[in-house]
Amino acid sequence: MTDSQDPLIDEARSLLESAHDTASLANAKARFLGKEGALTARMKALASLSPQERAAAGKSLNLLKQAIEALVSQRQSELDQAELQARLAQEAIDVTLPGRGIGRGGLHPVTLTIERIEAIFRSIGFDVADGPEIEEDFFNFTALNTPLNHPARSMHDTFYVEGEDDAGHSLLLRTHTSPMQVRYARMHAPPIKVIAPGKTYRVDSDATHSPMFHQVEGMWIDEDVSFTDLKNVYTEFLRRFFERDDIDVRFRPSYFPFTEPSAEIDMRFADGPLAGRWLEVSGAGQVHPDVVRNIGLDPERYIGFAFGSGIERLAMLRYGVGDLRMFYENDLRFLEQFRD
Ligand code: PHE
Repeated sequence: MTDSQDPLIDEARSLLESAHDTASLANAKARFLGKEGALTARMKALASLSPQERAAAGKSLNLLKQAIEALVSQRQSELDQAELQARLAQEAIDVTLPGRGIGRGGLHPVTLTIERIEAIFRSIGFDVADGPEIEEDFFNFTALNTPLNHPARSMHDTFYVEGEDDAGHSLLLRTHTSPMQVRYARMHAPPIKVIAPGKTYRVDSDATHSPMFHQVEGMWIDEDVSFTDLKNVYTEFLRRFFERDDIDVRFRPSYFPFTEPSAEIDMRFADGPLAGRWLEVSGAGQVHPDVVRNIGLDPERYIGFAFGSGIERLAMLRYGVGDLRMFYENDLRFLEQFRD
């Protein structure tokens, strides 16, 4: 009996053909060539033959084995081919479909406002600085002349951070950007001319207050900087920020522990929907001699001003936004309107 006539060949052929994936092909292969397979059993049976018979039978079994192995690999390549075709069909690209498009991102209106403020102050000679939001009590309050019993230090107003930093400083979320007055001025020699925009935190939440909001601090210290300079710089800033000249500015007496005298800066448009209304836009004042001393400068020689303005407030006025919370609701219908 030659190998090709062996019934095992036909059996293998039909079983292999009925295998439609790699796993069932492996099972079919094992039925013949595996440890318990039909061919393996015959190989084992060779041992009981006489040496002469064994040579002839062994030779034909080997041929049979090669024939079955060839059938297996042929079936494997058929399956591979079919799988490739199926995948190509599935991954086919329909070039006639319209594109999905790439959503155009945009900067947040508060970020746009910060960039605008930075560009204006840079152009009039101010440096732009950045500082920590988790701040030491010292920079937020003590160095700014704010006594321990000042209401701003209460738990009702300030978010305190539990524990202390490695150096034993008690920490809080900065309630204003004013700590940057001291931090920056300690690292730079006069003339000091800087703005520091950034996030600030207070225990507060309603239509015009958010527990997180943004301020921009400004400070100019030199030997002869006066309130006149403050008014000029701030008025120039407002006119450029709002891109209009019909803006009046007034100082209203106020109180901050770290400035003396202190003022609120109000502005008023002559035209438009807000015409004639005084709008408060900033706290300000002449840097207190104690703060000048805390910076490490001689208050007899150095003098200057500082201001701290709410960035959302400026953005709301510029864009005509009525509720501060809209900036933080992440409603794309709102945010998309601010793409520059
Ligand atoms: N830090 C003050 C506030 O948050 C604002 C201010 C800054 C006032 C600088 C005077 C000088 O209200």
